[in-house]
Amino acid sequence: MTKYWWKESVVYQIYPRSFKDSNGDGIGDLRGIIEKLDYLKELGVDVLWLSPVYESPNDDNGYDISNYQCIMKEFGTMEDFDLLLAEAHNRKIKIMMDLVVNHSSDEHQWFVESKKSKTNKYRDYYIWREGKDNLPPNNWGSCFSGSAWELDPKSQMYFLHLFSKKQPDLNWENETLRKEIFDMMKWWLEKGIDGFRMDVINMIAKDQNFTDGIVSGSNIYADPGKLSKNHPKVHDYLQEMNKEVLSNYDIITVGETPDVTPEEAIEYVGENRNELNMVFQFEHMGIGDGPDGKWGETTFELKAFKGIMSKWQVSLEGKGWNSLYLNNHDQPRMVSRFGNDNKYRIESAKMLATYLHMLKGTPYIYQGEEIGMTNVKFDSIHDYQDIETLNAYKDYTENGKKSPAEIMSSIYKRGRDNARTPFQWNTKKNAGFTEGTPWLKVNPNYDYVNAESQLGDKNSIFNYYKKLIQLRKNNEIIVYGEYTLILENHPQIYAYTRKLENKTLLVICNFFESCAKFVLPSNITYDHKELLISNYIITSEVIDEIELRAYEARVYLLK
Ligand code: NOJ
Repeated sequence: MTKYWWKESVVYQIYPRSFKDSNGDGIGDLRGIIEKLDYLKELGVDVLWLSPVYESPNDDNGYDISNYQCIMKEFGTMEDFDLLLAEAHNRKIKIMMDLVVNHSSDEHQWFVESKKSKTNKYRDYYIWREGKDNLPPNNWGSCFSGSAWELDPKSQMYFLHLFSKKQPDLNWENETLRKEIFDMMKWWLEKGIDGFRMDVINMIAKDQNFTDGIVSGSNIYADPGKLSKNHPKVHDYLQEMNKEVLSNYDIITVGETPDVTPEEAIEYVGENRNELNMVFQFEHMGIGDGPDGKWGETTFELKAFKGIMSKWQVSLEGKGWNSLYLNNHDQPRMVSRFGNDNKYRIESAKMLATYLHMLKGTPYIYQGEEIGMTNVKFDSIHDYQDIETLNAYKDYTENGKKSPAEIMSSIYKRGRDNARTPFQWNTKKNAGFTEGTPWLKVNPNYDYVNAESQLGDKNSIFNYYKKLIQLRKNNEIIVYGEYTLILENHPQIYAYTRKLENKTLLVICNFFESCAKFVLPSNITYDHKELLISNYIITSEVIDEIELRAYEARVYLLK
């Protein structure tokens, strides 16, 4: 397999709204990010992925773009952006932009025009269909509750929106639209940005028959499934994009691809496919989901987790490249979900980081993960801001599918605002995020979970991440070694090896609070061993049998 810089990099995701506010309006901004570049440099990350910073009415916090070539006012100006890019590059940090082109905002000029009349030049930039017997064209549901179709009173036709009704889907069948998108991408690349994270890119091609989908659980509407995800045509579009745009630059690309299987993923990332560098798969994010998806009761099962993660590691070996993540701006905090955000917050945050950073693929750190930020529990639904959460609350309580207490309990576990509470910089007012009133309340645990207290503490989660990132830079095996799962059936331990030439990396993680006994499989032999990192002090030299403590993680290099 070819070596590329993006395989050797660590990406840090910034959700600009919640990262750092520089002007006291309660909303994070580009100048705030600039202020914190030295912090990110200290951490050692190579690439920053910025969640959308474009002009937007913020129905979905910037994932509804009204102008792809302007910066959102709350975040600053294009001059601020240029400065951010230059300052990041001065520090040898690259910038990856979020590209949201499955849909735009309904306030984008294209849609404003498209809505004007059936014959408008931009009509066909979006997906318009006639209803059936006063009902929407089909039973597809929106990812944010309700029907995926909205009636336009003027033309009496429906437009498709797989997300909110303020996020109409763009019509990729239209060649002129595709050209506009490619030109816009070139414009950003010419500015000097280093890549794109492509929002729900596997949903851009829709089956043109628009037939009904299958309804599951207590839902009224159907998940369109294959009719709108991983449709064969998506590959034509991505190959065209690659040819017209991506292949002309040395950049990093990652596609967000819900419901993708490893076989499908290879079609996006296979090295001879000329599409993308890697995709975000979601199988491990859906572990334990019931028919109601994330709002149902969910449980974490290590066995299922091992199975999914190993399948992805093995299936892509020698064929494509994995992205590695355990949380992002749409998911709960990883230490709350997969670890213990209470008594063992520090140990489990470090264990999860060890587990993830030693896998094969490009690791993504979501802001605050590196200091062990946790989920939040606001008492009232009124303290939540996320459109998906608010719509689900309304939907479930109005339909009597769940009591308010029940849906709140699901929101505490899986709601997106868990990840979006402001970054906790220090113990000052609002955790040092803003001088004003934060747009979303700060997690009250900032008195003990904050960056400032960790920078100088050599045992902090922050400094542990720093070490993990450095290890990747100094050990090729962490980037390119081949993955093998060991102790497959152990109920508590997730252990694996990575092999490169005559070296073996041995990664041992206890995913639980209770102690667990590790026994080295007899086929793993070595003459020399070196402990690369561990989240506990290790005094014994013995590795053939280890009594692992709560959430203990160790990585050995064997030769
Ligand atoms: C996926 C993004 O990550 C999410 O935040 C957004 O709401 C949807 N796509 C729609 O753009």
